Amino acid sequence: MPLEIITLPCLSDNYAYLLHDAKSGQTALVDAPEAAAVKSALSTRGWGLDAILLTHHHYDHIDGVDELRRSYGAKVYGAKPDTHRLPPLDHALDYGARFELFGEEFQVLDVSGHTIGHIAFFLPESQAVFTADSLMALGCGRLFEGTPDMMWDSLNRLMALPPQTMVYSGHEYTQSNARFAVTIEPDN
Ligand SMILES: [Fe+2]
Repeated sequence: MPLEIITLPCLSDNYAYLLHDAKSGQTALVDAPEAAAVKSALSTRGWGLDAILLTHHHYDHIDGVDELRRSYGAKVYGAKPDTHRLPPLDHALDYGARFELFGEEFQVLDVSGHTIGHIAFFLPESQAVFTADSLMALGCGRLFEGTPDMMWDSLNRLMALPPQTMVYSGHEYTQSNARFAVTIEPDN
């Protein structure tokens, strides 16, 4: 059975996601912009929190980790190359790693560009990819650390996923990305 995926608006324009497996009753969180919104979504549903998956080191993706780990005992997953600036990890993941949660395979994609060490989580069975600030609706994230070539490679890696894959991003930037896009391609 595919995982239930809940979109959680956090802070001013962030998204975090709850991934719930009805069979085992277990839940994972993708990114932790803040603890309060996550705790309230969990308590409404009567769910615990077993895993926290981090995409990159920016504060608006990790600020809630310590409190959520303390409250629920969740295990924290993140990119091994970024361990020096992520909260302490229980599972440090190499690029290209595969691991299993709730009987479902998670693949770790290197999508560096916005930051170096930014990863995406691809779930082939649920046909979902969590791209955070690498790919959003109508645009990619700003290049704070990587080069345009690096970001292009990352976007190609995402483009190679099966076309039915649903993209879950880290921010709601659709309108501002659209405003920019029509300045570049007004006839598209
Ligand atoms: Fe970011």
